[in-house]
Amino acid sequence: MSKAGPIVILTGAGISAESGLGTFRDVGGLWSRYDWRDLATPEGFARDPGFVLDFYNWRRERVRAAEPNAAHRALARLQAGWPDPVTLVTQNVDDLHERAGSAEVIHMHGTHLTALCAACGHRWPAPDVMRPADPCPACARGAARPDVVWFGETPYHLDRIGAALEEAAVFVSIGTSGTVYPAAGFAAAARAAGARTIELNLEPSENAALFDTAHHGKASDVVPAWVDTLLSAP
Ligand code: APR
Repeated sequence: MSKAGPIVILTGAGISAESGLGTFRDVGGLWSRYDWRDLATPEGFARDPGFVLDFYNWRRERVRAAEPNAAHRALARLQAGWPDPVTLVTQNVDDLHERAGSAEVIHMHGTHLTALCAACGHRWPAPDVMRPADPCPACARGAARPDVVWFGETPYHLDRIGAALEEAAVFVSIGTSGTVYPAAGFAAAARAAGARTIELNLEPSENAALFDTAHHGKASDVVPAWVDTLLSAP
């Protein structure tokens, strides 16, 4: 591929799997061990905020103990070395892209490292342990929740992502099963705008048919190989 054109990258839980953070739908994945309706919906949080916050406290501790892997680092290299804009959109709520050196990561499902006040919308760095009714630093009401987009809620930054997809020369999907919308619709949107589409995943995803090319394997292998090929192209 010639060195031209903006690139939009979408990552999912698979890019962080080799950093020790579980995926959701693989064998043994989080949603095979926990019911997402209890842990990733506003209704589940309303039913038992302590249970949900304990889950996110545990996930936050796992994120803090994890390290970025070669795939995260390769994307940071691509952002630094590509002559046109590289927009990095992630469904992940970890900060491994940032810790690998990526800038301006678009967290469409929010992030574990921020707390959100459900009453006034204030955001602040999440404490190690968040408890029900923690007071908001801004309005003092006890309405703290994880700043994570739950099922039934609207993901963040969709306008910005849509604009980037419109301009993309290449759309790359990495480590995602392609089962959760709107992210699962990005490949079709990019194709409709004329972009080449590439899938880098352990195995073909649900929308594998939408990709012009695919490299299947572990992210820490296929992502650096793909980035090195791109950056070494004339
Ligand atoms: N390297 C590359 N891909 C991998 C690896 C790996 N080491 N391990 C797993 N995968 C792939 C799996 O084959 C699967 O296609 O990563 C994908 C993970 O899919 P999911 O577990 O469904 O995760 P994701 O697609 O990110 O889920 C989307 O669902 O529950 C919600 O909000 C949550 O953001 C999440 C969204």
